[in-house]
Amino acid sequence: MEKIDLIKKMLESDPENAEMWCLLGMEYAAAGRVNDSMLAFSEALKTCNDDMKLKISQELVKLTASMGKMQNESNVDRGSYISLAPEEENDKEQDSEQQDSDHKIVPFDVIQGGRVEKGSDFETAPTIAFEDVGGLEELKETIRMKIIKPFVNQGLFDKFKKKVGGGLLLYGPPGCGKTFMAKATAGECKANFKPVHITDILDKYIGESEQNVRNIFATARARKPCILFFDEIDSIGFNRAKLSSEHLRPVIDQLLTEIEGIDSNTDKLLIIGATNMPWDVDPAFKRPGRFDKMIFVPPPDKKARAVIFKLKLQEKPITEMDFELLANKTELYSGADIENVVEAATENVISEIMKTGFEREINMKDMLTAIDNTRPSTIEWLKTVKNYVKYANQSGLYNDVENFLSKNKSI
Ligand SMILES: Nc1ncnc2c1ncn2[C@@H]1O[C@H](COP(=O)(O)OP(=O)(O)OP(=O)(O)O)[C@@H](O)[C@H]1O
Ligand SMILES: [Mg+2]
Repeated sequence: MEKIDLIKKMLESDPENAEMWCLLGMEYAAAGRVNDSMLAFSEALKTCNDDMKLKISQELVKLTASMGKMQNESNVDRGSYISLAPEEENDKEQDSEQQDSDHKIVPFDVIQGGRVEKGSDFETAPTIAFEDVGGLEELKETIRMKIIKPFVNQGLFDKFKKKVGGGLLLYGPPGCGKTFMAKATAGECKANFKPVHITDILDKYIGESEQNVRNIFATARARKPCILFFDEIDSIGFNRAKLSSEHLRPVIDQLLTEIEGIDSNTDKLLIIGATNMPWDVDPAFKRPGRFDKMIFVPPPDKKARAVIFKLKLQEKPITEMDFELLANKTELYSGADIENVVEAATENVISEIMKTGFEREINMKDMLTAIDNTRPSTIEWLKTVKNYVKYANQSGLYNDVENFLSKNKSI
């Protein structure tokens, strides 16, 4: 267990190190601690890059396959919350828990993961709305037409016998607002919002993962109106042709069946998916009635960047800002990159104030220094997608990306 302790120690000082979380997941898996391993992988998924996401998906597939084999073993480890405390204390805690529970076997519940109660991760009408999202005007209009209007104005669609439903699949480089936009959509519709992650679905018992899928949809129907948001859908709906294990297939099939079974007239249930890797999503998800509209969420253009700077600085003490100049200096920056610039500038000003004792506002120079110290994080993704556009765009799936790239020759 020494290696596990060592990794946990390193994670204490660097809790967002995806590689370390992934390593911890692999060590736990090797030690047969399946549920701890899953939780570690799910932590890794939060901050990892695309290459690692693929690797983690494969590790998760292996893990779930091994779960099946463990099904009949009586010595089931409990779904414990990964603690970064030393292993010894953990063991003691588990020993006393073991006595308390009088060797009751409690199956591991992936949704709970020891952190949240089942069902409690529903968010009621998120407080963000479209006005909090900078730019992406075309996307807002599509969502208004395809989701919000049918959702709040169903009578009109009934009258014209216009079928509503189906889902939106948002794709694009990291940090450009896919998750943010989905939340804002739920805010606009005044609907419940349920983000679904791979760890909400996978379970070590055969058949349980499919049951989890059914439960998620049943709970969402019970909480209508509701938007189910499948973030990182490539990790759940991984292309079946590329899957090396048979284990995920029934889960994907169940998911497709549930999605197809949505009757938007009565269910008041909508689905939005998001991914950085649309090419890894099973094509069956992209058929009519499922995620039938793929929408590219690009890095913000100049006008949108100025708006995002304004939004992110609006509650901070600032001197007069030249938002146009800030936008000019941040080509290809994502919304998250802009947020980082603002945070870095804020941090610098605060630490200066603490040193000098002289309070001042954030000024243009602080912002430009922060920009000089950062680079856009979207370039790597755009370079990858360029190859897909070149070699795998026969069906026109990536036409929006092609347009974007043709306007940004520097990539
Ligand atoms: N258009 C935008 N307007 C305002 N803020 C934005 C915008 N885009 C991104 N942000 C900010 O960046 C943060 C990260 O964005 P978000 O999580 O939505 O990115 P994402 O596209 O889902 O990325 P990933 O692919 O990594 O999941 C948001 O919480 C938000 O604060
Ligand atoms: Mg996201």
